[in-house]
Order: sequence, then structure tokens, then C-alpha cells
Amino acid sequence: MNDNRLISSTRLAEDEQAEYSLRPRYLNEYIGQSAVKEHMRIYIGAAKLRGEALDHAILYGPPGLGKTTLAAIIANEMGGNIRITSGPALSHAGDLAAILTKLSAGDILFIDEIHRLNPSIEEILYPAMEDFKLDIVIGKGPAAKSIRLDLPEFTLVGATTRLGLLSSPLRDRFGIKEQLVPYPPEELVEIILRSASILNADIDDESAIEIASRSRGTPRIANRLLRRARDYAQVVGDGAINLECARAAMDMLGVDEYGLDATDRRILMTMIDKFGGRPVGVDTLAAATGEDSTTVEEVYEPYLLRLGFIARTPRGRIVLPKGYIHMDCTPPSDV
Ligand code: ADE
Repeated sequence: MNDNRLISSTRLAEDEQAEYSLRPRYLNEYIGQSAVKEHMRIYIGAAKLRGEALDHAILYGPPGLGKTTLAAIIANEMGGNIRITSGPALSHAGDLAAILTKLSAGDILFIDEIHRLNPSIEEILYPAMEDFKLDIVIGKGPAAKSIRLDLPEFTLVGATTRLGLLSSPLRDRFGIKEQLVPYPPEELVEIILRSASILNADIDDESAIEIASRSRGTPRIANRLLRRARDYAQVVGDGAINLECARAAMDMLGVDEYGLDATDRRILMTMIDKFGGRPVGVDTLAAATGEDSTTVEEVYEPYLLRLGFIARTPRGRIVLPKGYIHMDCTPPSDV
């Protein structure tokens, strides 16, 4: 799945460095997700009082909402170190064994995209999570011997965009399950103002609101749009991000008032024009727009669904009146 768009919620190379400096380090700096924060504050406080490692935790929700950030915060709050890896990166049992044996008590092992773990690696995780034991097989064939190593008491923090894809034995081993949800605009405004102050960018409230409203409920996108607006203000304007300059920068980037980009609009227009608003299957829609069907399903559709621009029906996807209106089209009388 190739998703390099400006309004992509997946992490792009340019985000790596920028996100690092903007990342809140402790719970009291983390804006939004109040339910998750309140739960974590209690679980972390209790684990510290007892002098134990925190229970294993799974964080789930759409990309860009701060799962990695939260894992790093958990490590900081617990006073441990964090080791970051991902499901697809752990292809060999030896890689996981090497990571597990290097952990210290109280450390956090963060596995991103944990739903993509190889089943044979999952098997190693079960005793590691449950009993802090690592079973290692030495040798091959009839002479093979299994030895059991003790592991330090660590906390596994898993992150996934698709909780439903986790096998139930793995899911059941997480004592803490927390869902991250898209941020309301007022929280994104707070995040943008906080980031602007770290970046030394001069921005007024109305521009922060403008950028927030185009950020699809996602801090990663908000921070990216903020950096682009700052570029625009420095080169075209006088360095300060004001409303005119924020709007001009977003228009130049092709990100509209709802945060849709050219591809989102092309998908909507194809559904309206080519299919006359009749239900269309995801594969047909992908072929008609020249996109990959998984990308349409996992990247474009969820936000259009959330906005109420399209709906899923048993016969396919349809455009809803709000979608027609956004595209300056008249909805047919029967939708
Ligand atoms: N930067 C990205 N996400 C953030 C959040 N939730 N709080 C503060 N700063 C952030």
C-alpha cells in the first residue's frame, strides 16, 4: 500500500524527525484522549505503588493518533526504557529472542502493527508475556533440546490499527486495552499551538483553527500542515501564519476545507459521474480511479465514511447527499 499523500495519516519519512521533537514526553503534556489518559494514569500509578511492571497493553485505533507517542510516555512515566519494533520487522524467532533477552525489568517493548506478527513469533510471545519465560530450541532433529530462560519483568505495548485481526490468544494476554479515537478540532487546535511554540512558529488562533479543521482528526496531519503553512508564511508572507496565509497554503496543497485532497475528490467524483450514484464495489471503484483496492478500503474510505459523504451498503458504496453537496453536485431525489 503506497500512501505518500500530504494528508496521509501514516508516518512519512519527513515526519520522523519532526515528530520526535514535537512528541509529548509525559501524560500531563499529552493533549486529548482523556479516557485513555485517565485509565493509564491509574494503571501506571498502581503498578508503581506495588513496585511491579505495568500489565501488557494494547493500543488500537487509526494511524497518526499517537500510539507510539503514548508507548514512549508509558515508558517515561514508569521510569523504564523503550525498545521499539514492529510486527513485520520481527520475521525471525532469533530477532525476538535477542530483543527480549536484552530488556531490563520495567522496560517497555513496543511492537507496532502487532496484527502483522508471524504466528510462529506469536507463539514465543505467549510464555514471555504470561510467565516471563523464553523457550529456546537448541539443535535440530531428534537431538534438539529445549531450554527455558528467565526474562526480566517487562511490559509489552502493542499497537494496531486493526484489533479484529489479532488472534484471540494474543488479544487475551493484554490486561490493558485502550482505543484511541480521532481528535475533535478544539484538541487539534491545542496541539497545533503547542507544536507551533516548540517550532518557534508565529501563528494566530484563527489560523490554528483553520489548519485543525483540515487535519482529519489526526495530530500527525495537523503537524505536517502546520510545517507547510510555516514554509508558506516564511517565503510568501512575512513569516507569521495568519488566516489568509494558512488558507492560501492549504489551497496550494490541494487540501480542502474538510481535509480532502485531490484523490479523495476524484473518488467522490467518479462515484457520482461514472456510476451515477449507484452502489459500486470497492474493486470496481479502485480500478476506475487507478488506485489499489486495499488503499481505497483502508485509507480513503474510512474518512469519507466518517464525514458522512459515502455509505457502505450490501450492494456497494453509495454517495450520500452531503458528499454530492461538497462536490457541488445535486443529489438524486432517491438518496
Ligand atoms: N503531538 C502529537 N500528538 C500530540 C498530543 N496528543 N498531545 C500533544 N502533542 C502532540
